[in-house]
Amino acid sequence: MTQVIAPAQAAMPHALLLDLLERSPKAELHVHIEGTLEPELIFLLAQRNGVALPYLDVEALRRAYAFTDLQSFLDLYYAGCAVLRTEQDFFDLAWAYFQRAARDHVVRVEPFFDPQSHTARGIGFEVFMPGLLQAAQRAQDELGLSVGWILSVLRHLPEDDALQTLDAAMPWMDHIIGLGLDSSERSNPPEKFARVFARAAQLGLHRVAHAGEEGPPDYVRNALDVLGVERIDHGVRAAEDPQLMQRLAREQVPLTVCPLSNVRLCVVPDLARHNLPQLLAAGLKVTVNADDPAYFGGYVNDNLTQLFAAQPALGASQAYALLRNSLEASFAADADKSLWLAQFDAHWQGVERPQ
Ligand code: HPA
Ligand code: ZN
Repeated sequence: MTQVIAPAQAAMPHALLLDLLERSPKAELHVHIEGTLEPELIFLLAQRNGVALPYLDVEALRRAYAFTDLQSFLDLYYAGCAVLRTEQDFFDLAWAYFQRAARDHVVRVEPFFDPQSHTARGIGFEVFMPGLLQAAQRAQDELGLSVGWILSVLRHLPEDDALQTLDAAMPWMDHIIGLGLDSSERSNPPEKFARVFARAAQLGLHRVAHAGEEGPPDYVRNALDVLGVERIDHGVRAAEDPQLMQRLAREQVPLTVCPLSNVRLCVVPDLARHNLPQLLAAGLKVTVNADDPAYFGGYVNDNLTQLFAAQPALGASQAYALLRNSLEASFAADADKSLWLAQFDAHWQGVERPQ
């Protein structure tokens, strides 16, 4: 990590910093592919597939995106999945997202996909996997975007269901880099999924879990100790536990923080009071991500620029750290990471980064 030269407020002009943030190479480590399903595409697919929607138009659907907590969002998120029926639908979904990500200068994305939200509707791996994988191949070929899929299991369902899902994914394992855990956090602690994460470890998969979004700091601790995760998705509630904070800093456990998601799900009151600057100042390996951008009002660059606009304490050194962390914390091959980090350092070269 590079040198710090001047005191905090000797900042560069804000517009210049936002431009640097937007154009910087970066990794997106916390995005649910089903959460990139824009209302316009929901309507298009509903029409294509003859699915009736309980909304008059796109604007009416958008107006329904007024969430009070995680569950109120998940109800609409799973309902939105109902329009995804064919291989082509999954291709269209993922290809639209990859083009959007490339415009934000994302060079590496590790998207979650939720098989159970499709298999429960009778849509199998043989339908969604080819669509998702073809989109990823095209993103690599045409956009130079590297994609590593993370299969995520739904924590509100029984662990046996997750184990069956992992079994059903076996023919596709060459294209899956990790196992994740998402959905309703409260009352569904990490230890409920000990066996499926042990199986993932045997398979050589990376492991991550949502923890400390709505759930208590102990869920973060148990995700590390019981599930053996390498990154924590969200993790913002770790700030309530000083010992846990020290551990996360010491072990440099990456946190994939999603500021707009936290505001829209009422985890924090607004961006100005988001605790990301404190997490970073405490030495944690924090990254900024989009989560479910079609539902929360912004992709990764929107998350970055809106957060930096709302938080005067964030300047060039924090921008540099957050984006470098995203590349370092990715599960890509070391050779790819070295290349991106060299491009990253070239982008930031000569930028004064006060601390
Ligand atoms: N939290 C938990 N589960 C999810 C989320 C989230 O933000 N998005 C999609 N599934
Ligand atoms: Zn998430």
